[in-house]
Amino acid sequence: MLDTFNEQIMCFPPDHSFSFSFGRWLDTTLGVELIIRPDRQSASQLVARIVANELRINPRLVLGLATGGTMESVYALLVKEHRESKLDFSQCQTFNLDEYVGLAASDKNSYHQFMYEHLFSHVNIDLRNTHLPSGLSPDLEGECQRYEGMILEAGGIDLQLLGIGKAGHIGFNEPLSALRSRTRVKALAPTTIKQNAPLFDDPAKMPRRAITMGVGTILEARRCLLLATGAAKADIIAQAVEGPITSMVTASALQLHPRCTVIVDEDASRKLKEKEYYRWIFENEPEWESYR
Ligand code: PGA
Repeated sequence: MLDTFNEQIMCFPPDHSFSFSFGRWLDTTLGVELIIRPDRQSASQLVARIVANELRINPRLVLGLATGGTMESVYALLVKEHRESKLDFSQCQTFNLDEYVGLAASDKNSYHQFMYEHLFSHVNIDLRNTHLPSGLSPDLEGECQRYEGMILEAGGIDLQLLGIGKAGHIGFNEPLSALRSRTRVKALAPTTIKQNAPLFDDPAKMPRRAITMGVGTILEARRCLLLATGAAKADIIAQAVEGPITSMVTASALQLHPRCTVIVDEDASRKLKEKEYYRWIFENEPEWESYR
């Protein structure tokens, strides 16, 4: 062991400090951790508790937000935490994953509205600190660059919330999205259109394109937290977590992330091969003690 240690020190180029090489040697990278909770409510509760804890530890948290039906219960729980336990959003900044191209912020189907309705209007967040890409910008490419610049200026995302689409997307990173992609305009896949069109009064009016953070942008968040519930997500969760890393299922790129927690309910866990191992981790690892 000592020899390996000495070798590590010796082979670092001279401009690397000892503490840096020592830090590399004691690698604390966790990779993906998968947590199974009995039902949708307890899975959402765990996600909300993690967000609330991180926000209490760092009130200036840069929080990446997601939309979609799965996130509604998480936001409801955060609103409850704000009302009942004074969870303070006043200093935090938020960046949403995506927005439809062609929808005004005031459109009832826009993600601007979703966030306002489910979270922003119910907590003490400063709306100037909430960010979503503008789907109406006359210069969409410039808008994507501006969005990336704002994330950079904020110091990067500390905690990124994620849902997963039925075809495995994170954000709107549809199949074949480059795993190093940045914020850009993406054409929506038929599975996504089928999944989201019923939310529009006239499903035919659902936009076919969106601005989305890239897979590379998401992978730069310091921590990722993905929530999936329900039997309809069981197949894709197994592919994303236990399958090969592939641009066909962009959530699988999270296997490259240093700290990604995937929280599922029993229904969404059905197709996982290593369920017993995941259960053991939640029941025994000290990291999860305060959440059990
Ligand atoms: P859902 O969407 O929560 O409505 O299933 C998740 C997603 O498509 O990312």
